[in-house]
Amino acid sequence: MSHISVLLHETVDALLAGRNTGIYVDGTFGRGGHTRLLLSKLDANSRVYAFDKDPQALETAAALAQEDPRFIIIHASFADMQQELQARGIEVVDGVMADLGVSSPQLDQAERGFSFMKDGPLDMRMDNSQGPTAAEWLVNIKEEDLANVIFKYGEERYSRRIAKAIKNAGYIDTTAQLAEIVKVAHPKWEKNKHAATRTFQAIRIAINKELDDIEAFLPQAVAVLKPEATLAVISFHSLEDRLIKQFIQKESTLAEDTGWGMPQEREDTRRLKKIARIRASEEEVKANPRSRSAWLRVAERLA
Ligand SMILES: C[S@@+](CC[C@H](N)C(=O)[O-])C[C@H]1O[C@@H](n2cnc3c(N)ncnc32)[C@H](O)[C@@H]1O
Repeated sequence: MSHISVLLHETVDALLAGRNTGIYVDGTFGRGGHTRLLLSKLDANSRVYAFDKDPQALETAAALAQEDPRFIIIHASFADMQQELQARGIEVVDGVMADLGVSSPQLDQAERGFSFMKDGPLDMRMDNSQGPTAAEWLVNIKEEDLANVIFKYGEERYSRRIAKAIKNAGYIDTTAQLAEIVKVAHPKWEKNKHAATRTFQAIRIAINKELDDIEAFLPQAVAVLKPEATLAVISFHSLEDRLIKQFIQKESTLAEDTGWGMPQEREDTRRLKKIARIRASEEEVKANPRSRSAWLRVAERLA
């Protein structure tokens, strides 16, 4: 099952910034689209370390590691990037990228339980080798907390009614059952959007701790970048993009002078320079509708 890489050339070109050698990190291997292009542009002394939480992504990566000794796969969250790299003797790198969210194979395989379009067990774990499934998680969460998750991570205004309906339903086995419960509880339909879209997104973000992982990842990425090295991150919805935008903004802006009285000399704590903010081209969106919501943000590590 394939995955069409989004903003493929834009991301790899930004990451390399004209270089053809060095150590690079792909935080989200997926099916390896970005990693493979990166490897094709790097010389024999280079290395690419890739992370993924998903055991299926790991299988593809293990095959690539057999073919190419420059490639190393790590089964871990990018939230643990710095310690995982240090454990392999890597302190600094020339570029870090991440292509956030779920892969097409995860969405397309009913048995992974991510999709309300394809009925499957209600799972939704990126790493389905550990942690509670969505079905188990829904049993244990309180109605009020569930409503907050659906509101915050799904930006769903009918979060309270939906949470009540889910909790009243008892154990929910399958994605189709959950989709039906949400549909019945949802008083209004957004045009071109299934009533359960926002709720599924919210539960997926919560059980995979997606936003927590991004918040943990960004400062570690900056900490391992060499001066002039690149950070390139692709996001697919506003909650992710906001975190990346605010992080780059904070790291690239002079801190406020907080002194009273005499003007204090400002300590320059900036670690990043903004380089670019890129959207998929019309042709790419036509060929791959998933790229419509993608934003690539690129920044460079300051000395
Ligand atoms: C959009 S896909 C990446 C596709 C890849 N760039 C390609 O071209 O094939 C996102 C991947 O990131 C993985 N992922 C998401 N969050 C992660 C995390 N916190 N740590 C490691 N992998 C993660 C998912 O399992 C998924 O395989």
